[in-house]
Amino acid sequence: MEFELRTDRPLFNDPMQISKRITQFWEQISPAWSSIWGPHIHHGFYENDNAISPLQAQEKLIDELAAYLELKPGDKVLDVGCGMGGSSLYLAKHYGVSVTGVSLSEKQVLMATERAKQEKVHDVSFKVEDALAMDGFNEHQFDVVWALESCEQFFDKSQFIREAHRVLKPGGKLMLATWCSNQDSYQGQAAKEYKTLCNAFDLPYMPSIEKYKSLLEQGGFNIKRSEDWSPKVAKSWDIGISLVRSYSFLQLLMLGGIRGLRFAKQIKLMKRAFQENRVRYGVFIANSASANCKG
Ligand SMILES: C[S@@+](CC[C@H](N)C(=O)[O-])C[C@H]1O[C@@H](n2cnc3c(N)ncnc32)[C@H](O)[C@@H]1O
Repeated sequence: MEFELRTDRPLFNDPMQISKRITQFWEQISPAWSSIWGPHIHHGFYENDNAISPLQAQEKLIDELAAYLELKPGDKVLDVGCGMGGSSLYLAKHYGVSVTGVSLSEKQVLMATERAKQEKVHDVSFKVEDALAMDGFNEHQFDVVWALESCEQFFDKSQFIREAHRVLKPGGKLMLATWCSNQDSYQGQAAKEYKTLCNAFDLPYMPSIEKYKSLLEQGGFNIKRSEDWSPKVAKSWDIGISLVRSYSFLQLLMLGGIRGLRFAKQIKLMKRAFQENRVRYGVFIANSASANCKG
């Protein structure tokens, strides 16, 4: 019997342990990330425009997602897994929405809060909160839940979807952009590669696009769009690798410590996974349909 791994359930047994690992990683790496890459921790959007800078491509990705959401000034947005507040600040500045950002990492919350102060963006706030138990928020509080490249790190995707449904107003919208597997299970060498990737990036598991669609429907959402943006974003990894190469070993060590050095090596794994179509960039826009959540 060949070794087989399913991509719709966690590879790790202990949610607390993986949460701790994820929190520590972002605590250690966020300042270095901010000086090397800037405020956003996500892919750029490169369709039809290869000449743009990495920052412009990241902002374009946000603009493309915001257009899908048809954001209106005054909308209340919850940015789940907000990193250093890149999306929250951009959305508040460019779309006139009011944003609350949450992350597991206190350092990220402090960095985001400081940036908001420096840039004089008032309609944003940040707090430490677990996406799987957003106890600090009431039912039906938000018009939009924005989860940009954070769900891949959530230990229980259904639990997050339930929480998103709970905090959204009826008819509110969820934007989920997340790394997905291209299959529901892997065997042999492909299973080993999947496991290596999940371990390297602290991903408890990575469901397929089809699986996410059924999780969203089971969670009480009507799916408006579900798309694979892999060809539009994959170039980000080439750019990431050349950016890292422009730093010396010592500079990387000083900026990000041992964990930062390891991360710099690991990004090649993800580039290869995109090249070989093992990882897909799933984009979902879904409306909170009813109060009845299953699953
Ligand atoms: C790859 S970063 C993306 C950050 C941000 N969305 C952006 O695009 O710049 C992943 C983020 O998810 C957060 N995260 C991971 N697991 C989380 C959880 N269970 N609850 C809240 N945030 C979480 C991490 O702290 C980190 O801020």
